[in-house]
Amino acid sequence: MKKIIAFGASSSSASINKTLAVYAASKIENAEVTVVDLADYMLPLFSVDVEQRSGIPEGVYRFSELIESADGLVISLAEHNGSYTAVFKNLIDWLTRIDMNVWKEKPMLLMATSPGGRGGATVLAAAKSFFPFMNGNIVAEFSLPSFYENFSEGALVDQELEKQLVDSVGELERVLTGVVVD
Ligand SMILES: Cc1cc2nc3c(=O)[nH]c(=O)nc-3n(C[C@H](O)[C@H](O)[C@H](O)COP(=O)(O)O)c2cc1C
Repeated sequence: MKKIIAFGASSSSASINKTLAVYAASKIENAEVTVVDLADYMLPLFSVDVEQRSGIPEGVYRFSELIESADGLVISLAEHNGSYTAVFKNLIDWLTRIDMNVWKEKPMLLMATSPGGRGGATVLAAAKSFFPFMNGNIVAEFSLPSFYENFSEGALVDQELEKQLVDSVGELERVLTGVVVD
């Protein structure tokens, strides 16, 4: 049984990215999925002064240990003004104060969705280019445009998008089980 950590990179209680992350993770065979809520990681706003005064908050170590405990990661990024949500950027900034080994080379399915037609493409591209500097091991990706048109009653409506997602989940499964496909 592989241990999967899944989360939407948002603190919204109605996060569409959390919905997508949970949906994708539910498709992984033989997995024990732990869904993390970033609302539980509303840390003090990072500042070198706060760090000097109070040190790294306990929640940062807790999140880092969660990543360490995982075999694989399913992350869906919310896009705010073309970038990460404040809660996620803040968490990353704190995590990098432990060290740059944020994602610990854990195989990652990286996704994004938004209500708009670009499906969070800008934040997904930003993460794709920078996560490798934090030992991110992105093995598959998926972007879901127009969430509210394409996701209904707990499932993807569009069959082509469903196939893309299943293929991406399959990539993650292959890496997790060590099966190499030519
Ligand atoms: C402050 C703010 C900025 C936003 N900026 C973008 C954006 O740049 N691109 C986009 O596609 N959607 C943007 N949106 C819409 C979000 O994609 C939408 O709120 C989505 O539900 C966020 O994901 P979540 O539900 O997982 O939190 C923005 C929303 C807010 C509140």
